[in-house]
Amino acid sequence: MSVQNDNVSRLTVVDIAKLYGDGTRIATITAYDYPTAALVDQAGIPLILVGDSLGQVMLGYDTTVRVSMEEMLHHTRAVVRGSRRAIVVADMPFLSYTTPEEALVNAGRFLRDAGAQAVKIEGGVRSARIIEALVRAGIPVMAHIGLTPQAINTLGRVRVQGKNRDAARALLADALAVQEAGAFSVVLELVPGQLAEAITERLRIPTIGIGAGAGCSGQIQVITDVLGLGEWTPRHARKYADLHGVILGALGSYRADVEAGDFPGSAETVLMDPGVLDEVLGRSDADRASGAGSLGGLAGIPLDRDL
Ligand code: KIV
Repeated sequence: MSVQNDNVSRLTVVDIAKLYGDGTRIATITAYDYPTAALVDQAGIPLILVGDSLGQVMLGYDTTVRVSMEEMLHHTRAVVRGSRRAIVVADMPFLSYTTPEEALVNAGRFLRDAGAQAVKIEGGVRSARIIEALVRAGIPVMAHIGLTPQAINTLGRVRVQGKNRDAARALLADALAVQEAGAFSVVLELVPGQLAEAITERLRIPTIGIGAGAGCSGQIQVITDVLGLGEWTPRHARKYADLHGVILGALGSYRADVEAGDFPGSAETVLMDPGVLDEVLGRSDADRASGAGSLGGLAGIPLDRDL
């Protein structure tokens, strides 16, 4: 018998700081639903991000700009229900943190209504004021600099950030600004490996890289990329499974079995007491003795054509 331990306590930002202090690289991954969050938790991954990549990988939007607060809250609740140990960080969607007041109301909903332990917001220097207000109110913040997908309409396209001198310096300034504002960690997305390493060396908070090389304090990946659920894998991701192939194969077999009449089989079918069925259909000894059984089963459930 397997016994569920309900006393597993959730990690907090203090535990993430301890992992960082111990020199443990922090494995982080996105999740968007209950069963996946449970698997991530079982795998011992300490930090789950309910990323607004939800929009593209789960909801079929073209960019993260389309994702709403309600959608993020709905999926955050599911991830919180599915996980018991990992700290759950909710991504604040586009236009949900344009002022400190707005950010406080919306971040508060992620912690109070959805059960997340922290929020993530995009932007470095430009978001420092918001981060400070949230942290002061007791809301832990993961910052996100480098490629910030919510700014895709001003950035133009997805590409590596910080490659020239000015852009690299601006990125370092962003990293220092979010640290000073009180962020407990910072995501570095699509940043040259050497620059990410240099930023990591200069910070007292963990850097969590995606497409930023191995010199970060931890890594984050979009779960569908790691599991091979989509048809395409970004260059920075490693495909640890081919769920696309596995699921297609399984669905093809299911369809073939149904079409061939091989599913369900006896193992997947529940039978009833045949005597009870005979009574229902007017085929019992009593029915036969009264002659009702010979009247086309009319003593039991009539066939549609007999009505
Ligand atoms: O939304 C997301 O999944 C993210 C990660 C890529 C960091 O922001």
